[in-house]
Amino acid sequence: MTTLTEYFTVLLTDHQTDTANHTSHAMQSKTDADATHITDAMSATIDVINTLVHAGKQIADLLRQGALADIHGEAGAENVQGEQQKKLDVIANDLLLDALTANPHCAGVASEELDDATPANPDGKLLVLFDPLDGSSNIDINMPTGTIFSILPYHNQGQTAQNADFLQPGDSQLAAGYLLYGASTILAFTFATALDTDQSGVVMFGLNPDTGEFELIKECISIAEDTTEYAINGSNYRHWLPPMRQYIDEVLAGTSGIRQKNFNTRWVAAMVGDVHRILCRGGIFIYPQDTKDPSKAGKLRLMYEANPMSLLVERAGGAATDAVKRIMDYQPTDIHQRVPVVLGSKNEVQVVRALHQQQQL
Ligand code: F6P
Ligand code: MN
Repeated sequence: MTTLTEYFTVLLTDHQTDTANHTSHAMQSKTDADATHITDAMSATIDVINTLVHAGKQIADLLRQGALADIHGEAGAENVQGEQQKKLDVIANDLLLDALTANPHCAGVASEELDDATPANPDGKLLVLFDPLDGSSNIDINMPTGTIFSILPYHNQGQTAQNADFLQPGDSQLAAGYLLYGASTILAFTFATALDTDQSGVVMFGLNPDTGEFELIKECISIAEDTTEYAINGSNYRHWLPPMRQYIDEVLAGTSGIRQKNFNTRWVAAMVGDVHRILCRGGIFIYPQDTKDPSKAGKLRLMYEANPMSLLVERAGGAATDAVKRIMDYQPTDIHQRVPVVLGSKNEVQVVRALHQQQQL
């Protein structure tokens, strides 16, 4: 079994050799300066992923203790001993924030739990965005949750990082991934194509509870182009736009409808769980735009939910759109911006896009 530590050691050694010889695919057209820059970015990114993993293991430990750890319920509520309780999503946020701001490569951190970005080392090369505990309605009921992360380059070294520094499109991500806290703890991540000199694509590790080490499960994960499994919160049907209703009507009609095949619904209520299923066996995940609150473009957050998941899905051969437009093309205007999300098996995402495009005409 390859542990995460061994995996990163080999990756960095290969990278240094590639840099010296410019041998790998991603290095062939690079100058010496470019190649050195890529290697520096790679080793800093790996260091930051290790920090995320270390905090993630602590979060997994707390979740495993469950109701016994006194971490369920509302923040600010009193526990049975009359002490102030912290909700687990606040604890997870604090663990990640403390660990990342202490990492010298990290120039700043942005979290779903905090209104503004938190500056860290002004000389750091990287910015990290995270959703500390995705799927928060699952926390109290022993169901899957996860941590989602996105790593961006920092372009203002020497200066204190601000919100505006984070507003880079998904295509600028150096790496992205998640930790899934489910029946077992899983780590999945991918590097941007330019850094992925080994062409390992999306990789997945499982936490061995006996050793406390992550062990490699799979590399080069690939999402099947077709699927009969879809994930959407159907209770919002009446709020969707006509093309989304039409898509679901056609799916529900099964073999007797235009799609001529039966579909199956799966909804984990944690995006991280649904995306994990799609990486494992394909499918489509949708959180569409709806008319419930016209001020919100969708429910999910662009920068620490949609973008990192889009990088994973695209690097595994799937597609990620807002129904029409590619998510990683969005130029963000706010670190907490929301976006509609349609991602997963390529051909199914295209069916949704075609319906939306037809009805725009
Ligand atoms: O982070 C938002 C989130 O919890 C996602 O993880 C999940 O997919 C979705 O919201 C669940 O939404 P709903 O409450 O509508 O089922
Ligand atoms: Mn979330």
